[in-house]
Amino acid sequence: MSRFICAIDQGTTGTTVIILDDELRIRAKVNKEFEQIYPRPSWVEHNPEAIWQSTLATLAEATRVAQITENDIAAIGITNQRETTVVWDKKTGEPIHNAIVWQDRRTRGRIQQLIDDGNEKWVQKRTGLLLDPYFSGTKVEWILDHVDGARARAQAGELAFGTIDSFLLWRLTGGQVHKTDASNASRTLLMNLDEIAWDDELLELFNVPRPMLPEIASNSEVYGVTHGVPGIKDGTPICGMAGDQHAALFGQCCFEPGEAKCTYGTGAFLLMNVGHERVHSQHRLLSTMGWQLDGEVTYAMEGSAFIAGAMVQWLRDGLGIIEESHEIEALARTVDSSGEIVAVPALSGLGAPHWRPSARGVIWGLTRGTTDAHIARAALEGIALQNVDILHAMENDSGDKLVQLKVDGGATANNLLMQMQADFLGRKIVRPAITETTALGAALFAGLAEGIFKNLDQIRDEWRVDREFDPQIDAATREMHLDLWHEGLKRV
Ligand code: G3P
Repeated sequence: MSRFICAIDQGTTGTTVIILDDELRIRAKVNKEFEQIYPRPSWVEHNPEAIWQSTLATLAEATRVAQITENDIAAIGITNQRETTVVWDKKTGEPIHNAIVWQDRRTRGRIQQLIDDGNEKWVQKRTGLLLDPYFSGTKVEWILDHVDGARARAQAGELAFGTIDSFLLWRLTGGQVHKTDASNASRTLLMNLDEIAWDDELLELFNVPRPMLPEIASNSEVYGVTHGVPGIKDGTPICGMAGDQHAALFGQCCFEPGEAKCTYGTGAFLLMNVGHERVHSQHRLLSTMGWQLDGEVTYAMEGSAFIAGAMVQWLRDGLGIIEESHEIEALARTVDSSGEIVAVPALSGLGAPHWRPSARGVIWGLTRGTTDAHIARAALEGIALQNVDILHAMENDSGDKLVQLKVDGGATANNLLMQMQADFLGRKIVRPAITETTALGAALFAGLAEGIFKNLDQIRDEWRVDREFDPQIDAATREMHLDLWHEGLKRV
């Protein structure tokens, strides 16, 4: 009998479900977008019920497309937008506030106060993270401070906190299980990265009551079984769980230290496997989980650029210079250079290695000859150029020089962007046959727990490359692009 794995990738702008067989073949892939809520400038929220409904709808559609029945699903994996914070009532399962999304900057002031009080160094040492509104710590604190009675109820153990993995696990198990995995926990500012455990001093710093926290589990084990989910047999194990970037690192088979990937989603997230000992960054990168598997921890370094695909969406929805995102490649190809326009995609602050939450995007260098095509090309260049600063910081921190970078995510279909990335980094870019690598990673974690995959070697043997991009520009041209980029950065 065939054994299928279902992976739910609950992302920032939509939910994707893939159904995978035991030879890494995708039988179905379904995506549904849901509403983004912007209550004020720089605030971003999601309705957790909309997330749950989009999950149910994509699950149902995916099993239909794969032409399988509920009896054929042997395991479920979850991967998710990280840091996004939900607080819900443990009795009713109802959220007490909209989810505060990772991009949300409302806690900027609180973060500045924590930095001014001299907390950044010890928090970085303990968590691997920097003090930034990006992470969950100040988001959960904000909800407890702004919803009537929430703090007292959290202290009394009536409320649950979770990132999206935790919230979906709770719903899929019919409210039976309150767990998270180590990779998602590592993004909250509440977990000690050496001990993989919640940390009392951090809980005190962010005023988060312990009774509301989920239990931290590994990335591949049975967390619980389904209960009352339409179209899924009760008792189906949920047995793989990871934050999307960690799942993508795994799905890219970056199993060895020095191997790295970049996922182009809403943002661009570059992660490098650094082995079983964490690296303390000296260049303002994040030290984070790779994964925890069979009792062994693999660490990673991360550079996050908050805006990548979202820049293309803005050209589509904000400027209206394209109708569909994929049209940007054809438009950018109508000119052979950006005409020295620099587009810095800092639409929700600057992430690594700059960490400037108040920064805003810039298009600089406009002349009367500038056309929409130049802006399209500059936007793609900006998406690729921001990764160069991250990669250099990563190489300086790890002492390793990267040979190649594996890429995944929607924007990797854009061959021009991939060639720019190879050119600006001066490294080979490798695009795999399956670019739904995030969902693939979650499926692999789940498949390993259920014995559908035996080990990492088997996974590596089945993994295929689609196309490689080699650098095609000389060092002087690369320098010229980087100099212009740094001039643009000074203007954000
Ligand atoms: O840290 C945020 C990240 O996990 C979001 O990823 O793919 O939903 O943009 P994505």
